[in-house]
Amino acid sequence: MSNQDFDLNAGNSEFYVDPIYYDYEFKNRTDDVAFYTAKYLEANSPLLELAIGSGRTALKAVSKGADVIGVDLAPAMLARAQDQYDKMRSNKRGRLELHQGDMRTVRLETQFQLVTCPFNAFQHMYTLDDAEKCLETVKAHLAPDGVFIMDVLTPDFEYLMRSPYKAVPGVSFRHPTYKAYYTYSERSAYDPITQLNQMWFHYEKCNQTGDGPTDVTIQLSHRYFYPEELMMLLRYNGFRVLERFGDFTGGALDAESDSMVLICKRASD
Ligand SMILES: C[S@@+](CC[C@H](N)C(=O)[O-])C[C@H]1O[C@@H](n2cnc3c(N)ncnc32)[C@H](O)[C@@H]1O
Repeated sequence: MSNQDFDLNAGNSEFYVDPIYYDYEFKNRTDDVAFYTAKYLEANSPLLELAIGSGRTALKAVSKGADVIGVDLAPAMLARAQDQYDKMRSNKRGRLELHQGDMRTVRLETQFQLVTCPFNAFQHMYTLDDAEKCLETVKAHLAPDGVFIMDVLTPDFEYLMRSPYKAVPGVSFRHPTYKAYYTYSERSAYDPITQLNQMWFHYEKCNQTGDGPTDVTIQLSHRYFYPEELMMLLRYNGFRVLERFGDFTGGALDAESDSMVLICKRASD
């Protein structure tokens, strides 16, 4: 399989068409939410979250008083964030302002003490040019002494080297959007030259109850960044990495770490 078979447009959008399923899929991913919530509440609001998605990372802090400005490409994800915000009952609720835009090019003409790009969103920067444009956006919105926080997956060779032809089975579950039972399997293919990983998530309905398609495949594309490559990219684009963790509780980055969490400032500060 060559990377000609990678559909990056599908890989940057299909996963974000159904935000109810997205939130369901990541409902147990709470460490990053706790980490970003603490950072958002510590920061001088408002702060900027690039690729805010459904608001999964931001809304807890908003419910406790943080003012968050969010940018995302996917209209359905933004609609979900707005809907969740509108339903928020907290009387301490802060402000949520959403913009549909591309984190490579968006310019809000405001600077923030905190800019973030959580949960692998930077891995949608498929080329070096995309990654550098995104870092330009961060710099355009970062106050001179402001902090930029991002996290991406560490390259896991065992996972990346899996055969693209072998489907790995997952669990059966009740789909929260279609209210029907589906079985799930996934395949992925990694191109070591472009560092792109294409994933195909396949869902098959177990019986004929409920709505939803009989079977459907959803794609997701990620570019992987190697730890030292990311340090270089940040350095040569004008950032200084203050701290680098291997999880969301301050653990060291090592060979077992799933994520790289980076806390940066502008190099000139
Ligand atoms: C894994 S989600 C992260 C969402 C949220 N921050 C979270 O933690 O759940 C990645 C998000 O990146 C968004 N995205 C992808 N490419 C983008 C781009 N060029 N500009 C803005 N958002 C983008 C997607 O629409 C999606 O909502």
